[in-house]
Amino acid sequence: MDSNKEKMVILGGVRLHGEVKISGAKNSAVAILVAAILVKGKCIIENVPNVSDIIDLIDIINGLGGKAKFVGDDVVEVDCTNLSNHVASSERVKKIRASSYLMGALLGRLKKAKVALPGGCDFGVRPIDQHIKGFEALGAIADIEYAMVNLEAEKLVGDTVYLDVVSVGATINIMLAATLAEGTTIIDSAAKEPHVVDVANFLNSMGANIKGAGTDVIKIKGVSELHGGTFSVIPDQIEAGTFMIAAAATRGDVTVTNIIPKHMESLSAKLEEMGVGVQEFDEAIRIYVDVPELKRVNVKTQPYPGFPTDLQPQMLTLLTVANGTSIMKENVWEDRLRYVDELNRMGANVNVEGKDTAVVEGGTRLKGVPVKAKDLRAGAAMVIAGLIADGVTEITNLQYIDRGYENFENKLRALGGQITRRIVNQDAPDMPAVI
Ligand code: EPU
Repeated sequence: MDSNKEKMVILGGVRLHGEVKISGAKNSAVAILVAAILVKGKCIIENVPNVSDIIDLIDIINGLGGKAKFVGDDVVEVDCTNLSNHVASSERVKKIRASSYLMGALLGRLKKAKVALPGGCDFGVRPIDQHIKGFEALGAIADIEYAMVNLEAEKLVGDTVYLDVVSVGATINIMLAATLAEGTTIIDSAAKEPHVVDVANFLNSMGANIKGAGTDVIKIKGVSELHGGTFSVIPDQIEAGTFMIAAAATRGDVTVTNIIPKHMESLSAKLEEMGVGVQEFDEAIRIYVDVPELKRVNVKTQPYPGFPTDLQPQMLTLLTVANGTSIMKENVWEDRLRYVDELNRMGANVNVEGKDTAVVEGGTRLKGVPVKAKDLRAGAAMVIAGLIADGVTEITNLQYIDRGYENFENKLRALGGQITRRIVNQDAPDMPAVI
């Protein structure tokens, strides 16, 4: 069934309780699957979430002459030993943002790449100038024509690249292009996100020589070949954060397991500031609310280790039930507050000033109405809104949510959430019947 023909139906008002196991990180897995293009040999990649972005990438890799498939619930085997096609132009390539990694991987492996300009969620302009700057520094000739990026190099030779913007995509892409280049590449002002580190760890475990991932300066000494092996993707920081926020918003008691608590520090700190109980374990965090009212807080999104932009819509939704006025400032994407209209239709009182600042008047009671998932994380925010709203919320445009959340409604149902999926034109009675 097409997820754009389905809707989620949620009856709000239930406090979530219990334990939820977090899947592998989608934003890490998409990069690692593409990084496997650099490897001559079989890569077994474990802890891969079964979400539509991954299914699309598997199809894209197969279309390029590689062999990729799920061989277990969360295990993907990729063998690109015989990959020879450098042109990626299918509709799937245009659909997902992570296809931009094909530029670095194909250039690194084949010294040429022709890749359709990547799509993904729409938060305004999504430039790739820093990616191109990096490829050119390594010796590639780049041009963009008819929405295709063409890259070619006789050989790639390491150099120093200073990024003008802290960019996850550019950092990973330059790392991919530099892994098999001659000499040493230095990425200065690199992104420090957990998935940047994970991609470096993957490449190193296949024979690359990358140091400094997780700091501002990454040093890549080129190697002549990578070999196959097995690697396990880190837990999904954003899925974990989404469940932590959902637990707080519903005044529940939820333990989020299979996570790296260090990755959650910026969120945990904000939740504690609001009065939410946060109990940390080695690989889990328990979230509970035992105070009568949550306090207002101001939040600014920043590159890691700051508060992640990918938790901004979920956090803003939580702020609608806090006591007082909170300010949410989006510093990473120029236009990532468009979904606020949907929240206001549910009864929230949020004013957007400029494009990047939301003033959230807390203490509102949301009401269930039909809403749209405007993008992946805004979709998750609508689910949280539905869980706390009075009555029934119906969410359409589920294709966005399905890009990045594995078994979302099953996991929420296991925590007591009253949530189900129906085809769009099917009547939703007062309560979802299929629970
Ligand atoms: N930017 C430039 N030039 C570039 C590249 C980026 O100006 O060449 C700017 C962007 O316009 C943006 C900022 O730099 O303002 C950060 O963009 P970045 O390149 O870091 O984003 P990305 O790599 O395209 C990844 C995630 C996004 C997440 C951002 C920021 C993946 C597949 N996507 O995107 O995740 O929001 O980093 O952390 O890893 C999501 O999962 O919902 C999602 C959108």
